[in-house]
Formats: sequence, C-alpha cells, structure tokens
Amino acid sequence: MERAMSTTSSVVITGASSGIGRALALALAARGHSLCLLARRPAPLEQLAEALRRQYPGHPVRVFAGDLACREARQVVVAALSEHFLQRRLSLDALVHCAGLGTPAADLIDWQPDDLESALQLNAVAPLALIRALIPFLPIDREPARLVLVGAGIDRRVQPGTGSYGISKMALRRLFEQLNQELISYRARVALFQPGQVDTPGLRQHIDAARNRQLPHAAYLQSRLDEGDALSAEAAAKALMALLRQVPIDDFAGEQWHARQLADAFE
Ligand SMILES: NC(=O)c1ccc[n+]([C@@H]2O[C@H](COP(=O)([O-])OP(=O)(O)OC[C@H]3O[C@@H](n4cnc5c(N)ncnc54)[C@H](OP(=O)(O)O)[C@@H]3O)[C@@H](O)[C@H]2O)c1
Repeated sequence: MERAMSTTSSVVITGASSGIGRALALALAARGHSLCLLARRPAPLEQLAEALRRQYPGHPVRVFAGDLACREARQVVVAALSEHFLQRRLSLDALVHCAGLGTPAADLIDWQPDDLESALQLNAVAPLALIRALIPFLPIDREPARLVLVGAGIDRRVQPGTGSYGISKMALRRLFEQLNQELISYRARVALFQPGQVDTPGLRQHIDAARNRQLPHAAYLQSRLDEGDALSAEAAAKALMALLRQVPIDDFAGEQWHARQLADAFE
C-alpha cells in the first residue's frame, strides 16, 4: 500500500540537478509531492522546478542553490530551507541526501587533502546539518519522516585513487548508524540506500576522471555501462520511490536497502 501525501508536507532532495536526485524529483512530483530541490547550480534546478510547476500546478517546488560542501554557503541554504518550512508551516515528509562527491586521485601524491575535506563536508557534514535544521518540522500527526542517505558500495572496497570518495561514504554509513540511534525519540527514521552502478552524468564524469588518471576501475565501470549492466537514473529513482512510499516504516528504519533489491520486491 502506498503512503498518502499532503501539500502541507514537503520532500527535500539534495543533488536534485542531475542523475538520481533529478529523476527522483520528477517521480515524486508526478505523485503530487511538494518538493525542496537542492544542488550547487541554480540554472538546472530552476529549469527543473519550472517544468514541474507547469506540469503539476498546485504542488509547490522550491529551489535552494548553494554549495553544501562549503560551510558558509551551506549555512545560507540551511537557514533558507528552515525559513521556508517555518513560513509555509510545512512538515517534513522525507529527506533524500543524493548529493555526492569524491574526486579520484592518480596516486598518494595526487590525493589532495582538500578533496577529502570537501567530500566529508558534502557526504557526512551536510546531511547532519540539514537533518538537525529540519527537526522542528518533523510530523506530529502522521508517520515519522523518512531520511534516506545515499551511500556507495565502494565505502568498504578499497581501490586505488578512491580515498576521498570511499572514506567519506564510509563516514556517511557511520552517520546513518549513529542517526539510527539518535533519532529514536524523534518522529523520523533513517535508512541507507545503495544505488549500485547507475548511468548518470556523475558516473560518466567519474569514469572520465578515473581514466585520465589511469585508474583500473575506470575500465571496469565503462565495460558495465557498455554491456548495459548499470541501472538507469529512472530505475534508481523508482527504487527510491518504493523505499519512500511502499516499504513499511518499521522495515525502513535502520536498514540498508539496495536499488536492485527494491526493484525486485516492488516490481
Ligand atoms: N551513479 C552511480 O553509479 C552511483 C553509485 C553509487 C553511489 N552513487 C551515489 O548516488 C548519488 C547521486 O549520484 P549521481 O550518479 O546521480 O551523480 P550526479 O549525476 O553527479 O548528481 C550529483 C548531484 O549532487 C549535486 N552536488 C554535487 N556536489 C554538490 C555540492 N558540493 N553541493 C550541493 N550539491 C552538490 C550535483 O549538483 P550540482 O553539480 O549542481 O551541485 C548533482 O545534482 C551520489 O551520492 C553518489 O555518490 C552513485
């Protein structure tokens, strides 16, 4: 059974300008959800929001552009998002942290500590900042809000050149485990979503960057793309939709979910 939606509640999606986050925004808007869309680049966010407003009038879509890996910019975004919830008297239906980053490095000398810092900021600090800011807007009279952190299978698979990405996704996994404890007395539950390989602009950029640095995993990822083994962004979004709308809250809470597992279970 699918959960009901309400125009007095909203779903927050980070990384909504591209790939999985964008596909999720399209899928949620089609089901009548009000949306708050976050990413760095305002232009693709505004284009998406305009298209959704035209196609689904009556379901507000708001854009909050800013670099979530930069402390000052993140504070501005978080403050604007809180103010929006306050002014509109919204409650939080769900937050999906799709924005993700982790520049590959050719070797230890090429591995910039600043890259690791940015990746940790985006993949672990930003979701904590957003979730803390949204606590006053957790639902009172409905089932708890669903918080989904998008992880990556590479967190526990050490491969050359993937330190910033892997370490920060490991931090995100630990954040998920910690939040699962910390949220017990709040009206919110958290899950970890593992997309597997998904054909997105981000993945293609990552493959190019890894190939330029002669990293071995570039060829593997490219071959899986060529063989059609990667999910589409739409299929990954469909799996997220099932996680947000169909998985019972007690099953959702504190669990790791794989896109293919959800696709098989909720065909
Ligand atoms: N695709 C895969 O195969 C795969 C596999 C495992 C895990 N994942 C994870 O899935 C998530 C989505 O990935 P994707 O493949 O859809 O990537 P994508 O197409 O590159 O999308 C990433 C999104 O994150 C936003 N973003 C990046 N840096 C940001 C920052 N500093 N502040 C705010 N927003 C930022 C980007 O928008 P702007 O550029 O406008 O900021 C974009 O909307 C990521 O967390 C990724 O790690 C993907």
